[in-house]
Formats: sequence, structure tokens, C-alpha cells
Amino acid sequence: MYIETVNVEIPVIKPTSYPIIIGNNILKDIGNAIKQNTKAKKLLIVSNKIIYPIFKDEISSSLKQAGFEFEALILEDGEKYKNIDSLQGIWNKALEYKLERKDAIVALGGGVVGDITGFAAASYLRGIDFIQVPTTLLAQVDSSVGGKVAINNDFGKNLVGAFYQPKLVYADIKTLKFLPEKELKVGLAEVLKYGFIEKTCRLKDSQNNFIEFLQNNKDKIYSLNEGIMINLVKHCCKLKAAVVNQDEKEAGLRAILNFGHTIGHAIEKCSNYQGINHGEAVAIGMKSVFSIAFKKGLINENYYNESIKLINEYKLDYKIPESISTKSLLEAMSFDKKVQSGKVIFVLSTNKAEVSIFNDVSDEQIAKAIKLSK
Ligand code: NAD
Ligand code: GLY
Repeated sequence: MYIETVNVEIPVIKPTSYPIIIGNNILKDIGNAIKQNTKAKKLLIVSNKIIYPIFKDEISSSLKQAGFEFEALILEDGEKYKNIDSLQGIWNKALEYKLERKDAIVALGGGVVGDITGFAAASYLRGIDFIQVPTTLLAQVDSSVGGKVAINNDFGKNLVGAFYQPKLVYADIKTLKFLPEKELKVGLAEVLKYGFIEKTCRLKDSQNNFIEFLQNNKDKIYSLNEGIMINLVKHCCKLKAAVVNQDEKEAGLRAILNFGHTIGHAIEKCSNYQGINHGEAVAIGMKSVFSIAFKKGLINENYYNESIKLINEYKLDYKIPESISTKSLLEAMSFDKKVQSGKVIFVLSTNKAEVSIFNDVSDEQIAKAIKLSK
């Protein structure tokens, strides 16, 4: 019998780039921005009970002026609603509203709304345009950019999802004025992270002086000074875009965005995602990895002290709750998504604003570092 093997190449059209528009008091112009970046006639806005009432009027009148038909789906507030039921709710609402493939879904909210809406958009009719309108600092500097979308399930956070890029990110820093300080600090932990990994992001033409910017502008950042915040969000987005551009699907470099997160995620998991929030856990995680790096001789004492001081100055000096044992943290780390061939992956500082990925950190080294935050 003659067996022939044939090989058919399917050319795949790569996604194009998308704009991130950052400004102060720009929600009133959102309709035109969406019009310029999609072919949608109808929009489904997904938001939550806290956020939608604050921005509803402004957004509605802008969308109406731009000629859009739209409806809103309002989710309950909180991480525990980032689940399959909410996802199903978005799909059903989109079907009832007869949203077509050329239409679009708008995520108005923090990372929870953004992640779940992005996943709904990725899967609805096999993919429909979506627009991120991030309203928390974390979402503006991190989750709305880079295309990771997901829901949680019984096994853990973000375990079911996709890489699906938005058509537009539209960040109005005015929204941060409504944010409780606790939530602002969650975003600030991620902002500091960008300082600590900046050079390794390999952003072209960057002066790589974000740490100094953060050292010099703490008060202005805490008071949400307009010019400073626009520059801050812009620089973080550029750093993230540079990393995603080099490694969209996290085959290597993108893992540096998890600086401080290996221990941070374990703390969140061991606290059942209650009592200690993401920013607090990441801040502890960053201090711990600085300690590991210092003890391994990767960084000098000056940089170690300077980094810990910066974290403390940003009011991110937290302790691990008494109830969480070192043993349970080590166990939680071994289940992390960042485990490769049984080894936990750590992003460690190797120099000022530089990091590298390590898989040889021992349980003893981790335990010693954790002890400092107990
Ligand atoms: P969040 O979305 O839960 O928002 C925090 C709180 O602030 C909520 O109560 C929310 O209702 C409220 N809120 C949002 N905007 C507000 C505003 N302008 N004024 C007043 N209140 C407001 O939390 P988050 O920190 O934005 O996001 C966390 C989520 O992001 C997690 O699920 C995490 O897994 C995900 N995440 C995703 C990525 C990614 O790349 N996709 C990256 C980092 C984090
Ligand atoms: N927040 C990590 C990432 O986007 O890869």
C-alpha cells in the first residue's frame, strides 16, 4: 500500500498592535475612541455593582453621542465572582442581546472584571473584540495590558483562561480618585515591581531610572498628581508591552513580571484569599526575594537596603499572618503555575533594576527569607 504524507501550511495572520490611551478625565470621550478602534455597532459593557454607578452617566452619554447601541451587565463585586457562573452570565447576556462577531464587549473595572470579560470575549462566538477600561491602579499598570484573561476554579486562581489581546485599553486616571487607599496600594506594589525589573524588560530608549522616579515622587503619587500619574501608568504599560512583545505566551522572559509573586501567591492561597490582599502579599514576596538574592550574593548590601527602604516608604511593610506556617507556604509554592519539572521558579534581583530566573532556591533559603516577614 502506498502511503503518502502531505504537509499543508496554514498561514496565520498575527494580531496587530493596539493602543493604550492614558489621560485624566477622558471617559467623556470614550465613545469616539471605541469607534476609531473597532467596527462594532453594539456594545456589551461588563462592570460591577461598585464601579458602574460611579461612571455610568459619563460613559453612557459618550457612547450615545458616538452612535453606539449598548447594554450593561453588572456583576457582583469580588474575586470570588471571577468564576464560571459569571462567565456563563456574560455569554448568555451577549446571546440575548444578539451581539454579533463584529460587535464588542467593554470591560469597565479592575482586574477581576477585566480578566473575566476578556475570557468571555475570547470565547463568545470564538472571539469578539473587547476593550479594557481599567479603573484600578493594578488594572491600569498591569492586568489590562498583555492579554492574559482567565477565571478561577476550585483548584486555584487563573487556571482556566486564554491569551487574548484587547483592541483598545482606555485608562482614565481620574477613576483612581474613587479607589480606596488599600486598593491603590495593591497597584503600587506592582508599580514598584516594575522599578525592580526595569532593565531586564529591555524597553528601547528607556533611561532605566524608574526607581529614582519612585523615590522622588512618593507624595505626588499618593496624592494622585495628574502629570505624575499619567507618566507612571504610561511607563509601566511601556515596560509591560516591551516584555509581552518579546514573549507573549510566557515561554521565558514574561515570567519576570512575577517578581515577588511566587511567595506572594502562596501567602494569598494560604490565607484563603482573605485578610491579606494581593498587593500586601506581593510586597512581602518582594522583600523575601531581595533577602534570598542578598544571601545568595547576587546583590550588594546597598541595593538590598535601598529596595527594602523603598517598599517601606510606600507603606507596604506587611507581616505574614501568624496562622500561616512556613510549611504550608512551601507546600503552596510547589503547586504554583510557575513550577517547572518539579522545581519552583524564582525571579531574583541580580543587580539594580535587573533580575534573572532561578530554579535552585532551596526550601531552607525560602524559609529563612519568609522568617523576616513573620
Ligand atoms: P478588583 O478588580 O477586585 O478591584 C478591587 C476593588 O476595587 C473591587 O472592590 C472593585 O469593585 C473596586 N474598584 C475598582 N475600580 C474602582 C474605582 N475606580 N473606584 C472605587 N472602587 C473601585 O481588583 P484588582 O486589584 O484591580 O485586580 C485583581 C485581579 O486582577 C485578580 O483577579 C488578579 O488575578 C488579576 N490580575 C490579572 C493580571 C493579568 O495580566 N490579566 C495581572 C494582575 C492581576
Ligand atoms: N501579571 C503577569 C503577566 O501579565 O504576565
